[in-house]
Amino acid sequence: MTATFAFEGFDIPVDLAILTGGGEETWAGISAAHLAAYARYCPLRAGHDVLEVGCGVGRDAIPLTGVLGPGGSYLGVDVSGPSIAWCQGHITGRHANFTFAHLNIRSEFYNPQGALSAPEITIPAPTASIDVIILQSVFTHMFEPDITHFLREFRRVLRKDGRVFASFFVLGKESVQLSGATPDVLKFIHAYGKGCRINDPGYPEAAVGYTPAALRRMVRRGGFSLDQPLHPGSWCGRHGVDDGQDIAILKPSRLPVLGRAPQRADLREAPTP
Ligand SMILES: C[S@@+](CC[C@H](N)C(=O)[O-])C[C@H]1O[C@@H](n2cnc3c(N)ncnc32)[C@H](O)[C@@H]1O
Repeated sequence: MTATFAFEGFDIPVDLAILTGGGEETWAGISAAHLAAYARYCPLRAGHDVLEVGCGVGRDAIPLTGVLGPGGSYLGVDVSGPSIAWCQGHITGRHANFTFAHLNIRSEFYNPQGALSAPEITIPAPTASIDVIILQSVFTHMFEPDITHFLREFRRVLRKDGRVFASFFVLGKESVQLSGATPDVLKFIHAYGKGCRINDPGYPEAAVGYTPAALRRMVRRGGFSLDQPLHPGSWCGRHGVDDGQDIAILKPSRLPVLGRAPQRADLREAPTP
């Protein structure tokens, strides 16, 4: 029997909760913090059409059923087949306007048998059909070509006045200084491309950070601009802030998206030993 725990009327499988991040003890608190961050920076309303990338086993989808109501819609996508199958079987069963789709992208940790690379996928949503796209702790596991591809897909599926809420590790002066001086936080001391640094060279995808310039470059190349100044998080030991990771709210830029998206070979520099 799979071990489960109760959350808002659902029995969440412990193994899939761990894969989604944190596990049982922190589940409800992280979910509440995510919902509070949406309310602060990018309010989700009844009737909105929402896309979540990297939805895991529904930590945000479940409380969002109450926010979006029967007049809204939600599409969750993830590379984890078992998480998507659970969400389809349990959440869609009760809320038909909440649907889920598996993206069979290779990921060393989340989907090692995946057959596709991120730039090969199309988000299964029609053009200009989404009001808000949310990603919590997802771009923090991805490299620039994949992020840029996702952003271009977001530009396609978002309505003109839509917004993207995405968390990052932003390696600005203050966060680098703080993380260097704070024990037991991510350090990002290994260079891994233009403006990109990783925490663990043995497992690069585990935590990926970007300089503010690299973040702005990806956002611009993806066809977006920052809608608000970045919201700094506490991941580096920063005190007095509400969020764990840094949060970017993006809006579609007025400029057309030009040129090809960067490829891995354009960006990779030799990792530091
Ligand atoms: C740290 S977990 C966060 C899960 C969820 N966003 C949350 O905070 O509750 C990262 C999630 O992103 C998914 N993921 C990783 N790479 C992905 C990709 N390229 N496309 C979509 N999902 C991805 C993983 O399967 C996992 O569910």
